[in-house]
Formats: sequence, C-alpha cells, structure tokens
Amino acid sequence: MDKLIIFGGIPLKGEVTISGAKNAALPIIASTILASGIHTLKNIPKLKDVETMLKLLKILGADAYIERGICNIDTTKITNFEAPYELVKTMRASILVLGPLIAKFGKAKVSLPGGCAIGARPVNLHLQGLKKMGAKIELEEGYIVAKAKQLKGTKIHLDIPTVTGTENLIMAATLAKGTTVIENAAKEPEVVDLANYLISMGAKIKGAGTSIIEIEGVSELNPSKEYEIIPDRIEAGTFIAVAGICGSEITIKKCKLEHLHAVVNKMKDAGVDFKETKEGLKVTGPKKLRSVDIKTMPYPGFPTDMQAQFMAMMTVAEGTSVIKETIFENRFMHVAELRRLGADITVEGNTATVRGVKKLKGAPVMATDLRASACLVIAGLVADGKTVIDRIYHLDRGYEDLDKKLIQLGAKIERVVD
Ligand code: EPZ
Repeated sequence: MDKLIIFGGIPLKGEVTISGAKNAALPIIASTILASGIHTLKNIPKLKDVETMLKLLKILGADAYIERGICNIDTTKITNFEAPYELVKTMRASILVLGPLIAKFGKAKVSLPGGCAIGARPVNLHLQGLKKMGAKIELEEGYIVAKAKQLKGTKIHLDIPTVTGTENLIMAATLAKGTTVIENAAKEPEVVDLANYLISMGAKIKGAGTSIIEIEGVSELNPSKEYEIIPDRIEAGTFIAVAGICGSEITIKKCKLEHLHAVVNKMKDAGVDFKETKEGLKVTGPKKLRSVDIKTMPYPGFPTDMQAQFMAMMTVAEGTSVIKETIFENRFMHVAELRRLGADITVEGNTATVRGVKKLKGAPVMATDLRASACLVIAGLVADGKTVIDRIYHLDRGYEDLDKKLIQLGAKIERVVD
C-alpha cells in the first residue's frame, strides 16, 4: 500500500491551482445517463472516485474517457441497468446512477451501498423520494431493484437535507411527468452545479441552492458541450488549513470565495489573513494560531468535510478548541492518529476538545478515510521530524496530486509505492 513520508517544519510559499470539485463531478457524470449522446465535461479532476464513476458508466454500456483534460462520455449505447456490488462497495456515490436510470430507462438494479468508516450512511431518503414519484422499489439480496413506467412529479419533504439524496431526486424529476418540489433540499454548491448542468441539457429547474427546488419534467434532455465544473471548495479549504498551520503565505488560484464563507470566517478567527489579488486568494498563516470552536452543519454552515483539517490546525493553536460533528456519527477516527503525533484531544460523543500543544512529533500514522488523510498530511507538515502516513489510497480518492502540489510549495514529501 502506498505511503507518504513527510518531513515537518519547513515553511511553504507559492501558488497552488485548485482542481475541479469531486462532489460536483460525480453527480454530473451520473447525470449524463439522462441524455443519450456525447457529453464533454471540462475541469473534471483526475481522482480515483472519478475513475470509478466512469468505470460504472462503462459497465452500463456508455463509452467514457478523459483526453487533454476533457471528459468525453457517450451514453448512446447504455443497455445495462445494474450497478454491481463489487464496484458500489468501493464508492458509495455510485448510488447517484439510481435516479437517472429509473427516469431514463424505467428500471435499475443498484447494490445498496454499505456503510463506510465515517458512518452507516443510509439511503432511505433517496428511496422514499423515488417511491413518492411512483417507483416500485424492492430490496433483493443487497440490491435496490427499482421499476417505474413513468415517474410522476410530486412534493417531497426531506427529513435531512441529504446532498446525494437531493441530487438523485432532482435528476429523477427532470424526466418525470409533471412538477416535483423538493423541500428541505441540500443547498451545497455542488447541488447547484449539477442543476446548472441539467439546465444546460434542457431541464427546467428553479431554486437550486435554496431549500426549495422545483423541477418541471420534460420529455427528453440533450447532451451539453464543454460544461466546466466548479473548483473544489474542500480542496481550497484544505490548502487554507496548510497555510494556517505552517504560518506560510500561499496564493490559491481558481477558488470561489463565495463557496467558503463559513470556513474563511473561522480561519480569520484563528488568525489566518486573506487578501484577494488578481493572481488569486492570498492566504497567510499567523506565527501562532488562536483556538476556535466549530460545529459542522449543512451548507452554508461549516462543512463536515473540513472538520478533520481544521482539527489538525487546532492541535497546535493557543488555547482550547471545541469541535462538534453533527453530520456523521463516527467522523473522529483521525483523533487517535493525531494523538500518536502528540496532540491532546478528548472525545465525548460527537464533541472533541482539542488543547493546543507547543509541538507535534512525527510518527507512523494510518489514514482511515479521505478527509482524515488530509488532516494527517496537514499535521505532518508541522510535526518535528518524519511522519509516515499509511493507506494513502484514501487520499487519492479525493485529492488530485496533493503531495505534488505541496512539494511545489516547498514541502519535503516522498511517496513510497509498496
Ligand atoms: C455528501 O455525502 C458528500 N459526498 C460527502 O463528502 C459529504 O460529507 C456529505 O455530503 C455531507 O456534506 C458526495 O457528495 C459524493 P448526506 P452524502 O446524504 O450525500 C444522513 C467527502 O469527503 N442520511 O448529505 O452521502 C447521513 O447518514 C464526502 O467528499 C440519511 O439518514 O451525505 C448523514 O448523517 C464524505 N438518510 C446525513 O444524512 C439518507 O437517505 C448527511 O448525509 C441520506 C443521508
């Protein structure tokens, strides 16, 4: 298994360009199922999870490949409607093909995604919404088996503003008969990017980015050309955390500040300085970070996908920080690994209390999930001596060349391929 070896204590400086957003690319690639023909998507990031989603589309019969940074997807020959367990178990976001397959082909057989390290992650709200639209859904040997002659528009109230649940239901509703209203919808920028892509294909959607989204069904959608997906706000936030913890100055290019208000506010409270320049967002970390409390919330609140990275910063801040995780039930696996580096953290239920220490000391640690891996990289950049991070395949799922981008900024990092 690949490892990263990081030699800490080196101040960083320079520019970094943010890649396309993983959590926009995945639903947008799935949505190509809704329109038969050749789709061309720009700014698709080179990630393991994107590769997996493209592999899934090929299993369904599409042709998909990335050439000179453009992702080409030909959905003319989709003849298979089954997303197999062997693939779905490697990436839960495979569930995003369910809504499009039912809407376009009237049938789907998608393996129920298991839980993952950060939580049980049920998809009951996805299924409840599809049933309300008229889909017949059975669970057979671990598979969701769905049928629908024609989905019907209806009103759906989501108990929780689920991101992929909202995305699945928007996609299903684009080809339904009549109008669908989704209440308590997720407001993430990635939901808006998906809606914009669907609109570019001829969908009629209003209210994306608010908690009430209205979709008027149409008879067919047509592929869009050269749609550019948004930059990854979590990758941008991760580099802000890097600048913050290293006391360094980094200019972050292709980052949309309007997607990061909650993160930037907390970073400013911690002492990080921001300046918008013509090159990009200039971020400067302080000599010593101040401790700040955070509570993760659905967008536009503080994103759960930035909780681990922010915790890494707080391990060496002045004072004590209280971190509350309200989205997932088990998203503190990075705590035990941070403790191995000398962090002083106690956890009670969904609350972690982080007492800042003077220094972290390098040690062998293990990545447990995508954002936990980023957290350990951030901590390793300031820990004295050498930090070896094992199982970094987690990192490669969601960050495009993170180690290379950090080396460009002056970090001393080696990737050991086992
Ligand atoms: C999306 O996951 C993201 N993934 C996650 O990013 C992100 O952490 C999460 O949204 C929250 O922002 C993608 O977009 C591919 P949810 P998703 O449905 O849609 C519960 C990363 O690091 N829930 O919004 O799966 C669920 O258990 C990943 O890039 C139900 O109970 O998250 C959780 O507690 C990690 N029933 C809460 O809602 C459902 O049917 C939010 O989950 C659906 C969700």
